[in-house]
Amino acid sequence: MPLHSNTDLDHDDEIIEDSNPTDNPEFANMLIKRRSILKGGAGLMTASFFGSLPLMGCATGAGTKLATSGTGKSLTRPTALKFTAVPHYTGGNMIVADGYHAELILPMGTPIVSGLGKWTDDRMVVGKSFKYRMGDNHDGMWFFGLKNGSYAPDVSERGLLAMNHEYTNSNLNPIENYSNQDDTAPKIFQKRRLANDVRREIHAHGVSVVEIKRTPTGYELIKDSPFNKRYTSGTPTRLSGVAKGSEFVKTRLDPQGLSSVGINNQCGAGLSPWGTYLTTEENFLNVFARGADKGIIGDKNDKRLARYGLKEDTIGDPAYSWHTPKDGQAGEFDHWDITAKAGKTATDDYRHTFNTFGYITEIDPFNPKAKAVKRTSLGRFAHENCAFAPPNEGEPLVFYMGDDARGEYIYKFVSDAKWTNADVGGGLAVGDKYLDKGTLFVAVFHDDGTGQWRELSKKNPMLADFESDAEIAVFARMAGDRVGATKMDRPEWVSVSPITREIYVTLTNNSKRKEEDVNGANPRSYDGKGNQHGHIIRFAETAGGVGDKFVWDIYLFASPHDKHEQNLSGLTAENDLSSPDGLFFDPRGVLWIQTDDGAYTKTTNCMLLASLPNHIGDGATLSTTTGKTTHMGAKATPDTLKRFFVGPKGCEVTGITMTPDCKALFINIQHPEGTFGAVAGGKTPRSGTVVITKKDGGVILAESLDG
Ligand code: FEO
Ligand code: CA
Ligand code: CA
Ligand code: CA
Repeated sequence: MPLHSNTDLDHDDEIIEDSNPTDNPEFANMLIKRRSILKGGAGLMTASFFGSLPLMGCATGAGTKLATSGTGKSLTRPTALKFTAVPHYTGGNMIVADGYHAELILPMGTPIVSGLGKWTDDRMVVGKSFKYRMGDNHDGMWFFGLKNGSYAPDVSERGLLAMNHEYTNSNLNPIENYSNQDDTAPKIFQKRRLANDVRREIHAHGVSVVEIKRTPTGYELIKDSPFNKRYTSGTPTRLSGVAKGSEFVKTRLDPQGLSSVGINNQCGAGLSPWGTYLTTEENFLNVFARGADKGIIGDKNDKRLARYGLKEDTIGDPAYSWHTPKDGQAGEFDHWDITAKAGKTATDDYRHTFNTFGYITEIDPFNPKAKAVKRTSLGRFAHENCAFAPPNEGEPLVFYMGDDARGEYIYKFVSDAKWTNADVGGGLAVGDKYLDKGTLFVAVFHDDGTGQWRELSKKNPMLADFESDAEIAVFARMAGDRVGATKMDRPEWVSVSPITREIYVTLTNNSKRKEEDVNGANPRSYDGKGNQHGHIIRFAETAGGVGDKFVWDIYLFASPHDKHEQNLSGLTAENDLSSPDGLFFDPRGVLWIQTDDGAYTKTTNCMLLASLPNHIGDGATLSTTTGKTTHMGAKATPDTLKRFFVGPKGCEVTGITMTPDCKALFINIQHPEGTFGAVAGGKTPRSGTVVITKKDGGVILAESLDG
């Protein structure tokens, strides 16, 4: 039954087929499959809804047609998941579904150029050498086909893999020497770290771009490719968009506010419609320190810093303390301490360096000479990832984003410029066109299953107190507060269905969600532990991407299958999960779900599941046992949701991309325990990339089409 009264969402699928204005054969084929998916249920899309689907899968890349497999067969979404579910697993290795092969490549420390020593298990490699090694804690990534030195969205055999390195942990460095302890020093300097250890961490953050080529069992690095490059927390960057040159980003590093140094805490990944890599800055708070300076900067600035988590006289995460080495070079580490100095101005010290972090950051993998560009117009917050709605020629582009912290918001950005397919392959100059001028919105989810986008600009009278659009962007969270945005259970990845254009967002969990604070879109809180297992919400624009209205429901409630009170989606041992995080629609519309869990790990390590979602309104309205009414999608079955892979103990399974031919799936294993990823005979587990291929060399999940 249709969930919402909005008639835009209540057309039958005959209209869908008639509405397709393209002559794209892959697309037509997909629609036929779609009809069988929708059989028996209420159809969803209006003519314009489907008619506006582009010629590309949003996942494969800009301007590409949906790829075809080597057999010439069109790639269509399977109608059911036929593989045998991978069971719960708590061991130190990884398990993938029968018939598939999983291979670990590019572990942390791997040199990406010749002439550099291998990573050694004693962890003594020189810190700066990480400018030329794979960084730590691999996260979001994207595969870019490569041919004749350029972006080739249909090519799978050779490509550039752009990959995030989210953070560093204790496995990176030898046991630290903290003999510099000085209890008489100012609080943020009482414990000083060694320069080489901090350098290792600074350069093990950021992004790697590496060229890879297909092998019989997976992919391998092409060392010394001219495209191989690291962007780290020590690399110069360019600031762009509404906050560029504004007072909020002027620092001693660049008194004009046009640049900064370092990208940090790259988490989820995105692709731009023109074929560049959109990386993110999430928990950048951790690497900054702030001394006692409230009396210097005043209440307003103190509140801004506190809203972004950095209270007076604290270090974001003391384990980093990047500002502390005494044995560094002049100016090398100073800017991680943002304390405002008495008698100084913002261009004499580093008080605003913090404001130059927290952005969607664009990298052109095909232009290694270019700097990473921070796109300030998309707002400053703990960005998880960024996903675009399939573009329509002549219409603005729309990007969706989540702020991953408890009770933070979901945003979208609508470009001023209208899309043209001629911009594919145009690199960062095209980014300047679409990402620097536009409008930022924040989401309000009403309990009745509708929602509203509220504009974050000076045009919104609710934001009269903000002095400029630059202030609104740099302190987007505060603007969201002011307009009444809905506090979500930690928005993680966003992905847009290439079939329905519905936007899916993982809400990983929220230990602070109190029973009295549940709302329709975040309706669960149990046992004093809040929303322990998380859920996946989805929404659809009802007034077009530029409009301000949407409808939503909850695609999936994560839960252990035997926690009956919480298991609202009908999960079984074959598909139960906790804390969904990574999320990726592949080019065919298969939705892949990854977990970053700490609540179900006695039963199973983190995992990757495949799913075949239907559409908003395919379920029912229900009351949770906490008494909150919500709108839930159809219950899962093993045909529509199934565990495909389980990683090693202690890990998070994150980051996901697929080759255009859908024959290789790349995922990342973050912070494993035991000896996973260690060198032969070594003891240090390492993060790395896992390439999953079908043993018969075929298209992943295609068996269900053959059956
Ligand atoms: Fe870096 Fe929100 O995960
Ligand atoms: Ca994440
Ligand atoms: Ca997470
Ligand atoms: Ca992580």
